This record gives sequence, structure tokens and C-alpha cells, in this order.
Amino acid sequence: PDLLDPKKEHTLVLVKPDGFRRGLTGEILRRIESKGYVLKGLKIKQADRALLEEHYAEHRERPFFQGLIEYMSASPLVAIVVEGDRVIEGVRSLMGTTNPTLAAPGTIRGDLGRDWGTGQVENLVHGSDSTTSAIREIALWFPELEYHAED
Ligand code: PPS
Repeated sequence: PDLLDPKKEHTLVLVKPDGFRRGLTGEILRRIESKGYVLKGLKIKQADRALLEEHYAEHRERPFFQGLIEYMSASPLVAIVVEGDRVIEGVRSLMGTTNPTLAAPGTIRGDLGRDWGTGQVENLVHGSDSTTSAIREIALWFPELEYHAED
């Protein structure tokens, strides 16, 4: 299997269906790579409901949950494992806040995200929010990528 170095920090990034459909995958990857982070896994995937319900399990009771699952399963997305020093916080900072209207200019969501005023935002990108989430999400989306201990 392909291996991840457990001494390094990793995060799971998703270019969501709106981002992939709009041809923004390259722009999003450019920002991540330009920052100095390294891509360790990348695939186009049509996510099914079961995978997304697992991915977003902590939000199951939230009012936006069903809409979020519909949005994320509507068409293919791009799943990426990114490596780097403090990459979890760094990618969150590149992304900007959840709502594209409020996200700061200079961030992915602030520059490129759209808010149709429907209450359902299309915010282009996902990044793991903690080390625990990153490990769980990488295992979920990239079961073929394994951490290996140095001998
Ligand atoms: S919270 O309240 O801090 O837990 O919520 P937040 O982290 O901002 O959001 C959790 C995930 O749900 C997505 N989300 C939405 N998507 C579409 N429309 C609406 N209104 C909406 N509200 C929240 C949000 O983008 C988070 O998903 P990810 O994949 O991490 O971006």
C-alpha cells in the first residue's frame, strides 16, 4: 500500500461537487501547493450517501444535514490527502469561514464561493478540523493509504 509518515501532519481536503463542476480543482490545488503543502493522495469520486453520512456523522442532528448530503452526492468530488507542518490549521485558514459571503477576501471561499441566499451554501471545499477528524476522515476516504511506523 501507499504509506503516510506518521511523524508528519496530514489533512483531508475535499473539492466539493460545485468546485469540481466549476473547474476550480486546479485553482484550489494551486493555492494549497503554493503554500508549500504536499499532495499525498488524490482521486475523483462520486460519494454515496453512506460514505457522506459517516463523514458528517457529528452533524447528523443539524437542520442542514439532509441538504448537505444531497449537495455532496449530487456529482463527483475530488478527495485529497495533504501533508505539511500545521497543515490542518493552514488549510482551514486558506479555506475561510463556512459562509462564502462572510469569508474573507483572499480565502478560497471568500474569493470563489457562492451564496445563493437559499440557506444552502456552496462553499467549494472541506478541510478536516482537528487531528482526530483528519485521521478518521483519511481512513474513511483513503482506506488504501496507511500510516507506517519507522523501524
Ligand atoms: S458548526 O456549527 O461549526 O459545527 O458548523 P460548520 O463547521 O460551519 O459546518 C459543518 C459542516 O456543514 C456545512 N454546512 C453547510 N453546508 C451547506 N449549507 C449550509 N447552510 C451549511 N451549514 C454548514 C459546513 O460547510 C461544514 O462542512 P465542511 O465539509 O466541513 O465544509
